[in-house]
Amino acid sequence: MITIKSQREIELMRKSGQLASETLDFVESKLEIGMSTEDINTLCHEFIISHGATPAPLNYHGFPKSVCTSLNEVICHGIPNKKDKLKDGDILNIDVTTILNHYHGDTNRTFLIGNVSDETAKLVEVTKQCLEVGIAAVRPGAHLGDIGAVIQELAHSHGYSVVREYCGHGIGREFHEEPQVLHYGKKGTGVELKPGMTFTIEPMINLGTRHCVLLEDDWTVITRDKKPSAQFEHTVLVTETGSGVEILTLSNPK
Ligand code: MF3
Ligand code: CO
Ligand code: CO
Repeated sequence: MITIKSQREIELMRKSGQLASETLDFVESKLEIGMSTEDINTLCHEFIISHGATPAPLNYHGFPKSVCTSLNEVICHGIPNKKDKLKDGDILNIDVTTILNHYHGDTNRTFLIGNVSDETAKLVEVTKQCLEVGIAAVRPGAHLGDIGAVIQELAHSHGYSVVREYCGHGIGREFHEEPQVLHYGKKGTGVELKPGMTFTIEPMINLGTRHCVLLEDDWTVITRDKKPSAQFEHTVLVTETGSGVEILTLSNPK
């Protein structure tokens, strides 16, 4: 069942989404070569808790940490740990999901650490654009397949591949609600979008093959060819007016 959110629920989702985005702003300002992904987890955890919220990943289906940290060939769901330390030239995705007043905000960004190769930096830039074109396809009357189609088209135009095993999702009182939001597909197919729907768009784009491997820890997903993968995520609302879409995971302009 796809739930349509009330004005009250939407306001709560804006608040939670804002906190998730501001957590990323905060941790970005602390990123340094040599710090561990465990340090990043601690910074995010403390920030979220100190703002009266809960990190949704912690204990979610047994996930052991408060954020996901995915380095280089890690596609998603990397587990923060003391051994993985940021190196010059890495790319790092940090995925933050907050629960504030029972409502979820889910957003991620891929950060460049030091001097990243032009090839990898371009992958990150195009992946960000993939999220942007996906968001631009959202409006009442559009179909879920429209989002996937524009993302796939842009990624393929640069010779990149789109991960198929993991997708965006409805979100609200639950972390993962219906529908599934695929990052590939055909225009005009799938569920028709209606005002009040809230879901994430979170394309994972690979430099090489789209295929992935799940590691022994049962969480970490890496590219089969160990080439880099990038991701960006926002939580969005389908609106009746304006452009037809509002991004719920935006920081308050300071
Ligand atoms: N935040 C991820 C998403 O965008 C989900 C992480 S699930 C976890 O959907 F258990 F790994 F945290
Ligand atoms: Co998500
Ligand atoms: Co997420």
